Amino acid sequence: MTTIKVLQNGPYQVEGEDVTAVDTSGAKFAVVKRPFYLCRCGASKNKPFCDGTHAKIGFKAAETAVPGGGVGPSKS
Ligand code: FES
Repeated sequence: MTTIKVLQNGPYQVEGEDVTAVDTSGAKFAVVKRPFYLCRCGASKNKPFCDGTHAKIGFKAAETAVPGGGVGPSKS
């Protein structure tokens, strides 16, 4: 099972062995350890991965699930 957890004022924590991060062409990003963290603030210099910059810039965001919220637009 894969779990994506929204961390407080930080990245998405991705946990699970059956998940792969790919770029727009489908090429795989090297994931050297798990869980791994995806940038949510947009300021990482190592996108799509978090490099800790969110803490330096004071990133603040909502982390709570909104009732009725859900899946957004699909590209498929
Ligand atoms: S969430 Fe960590 S650098 Fe963007």
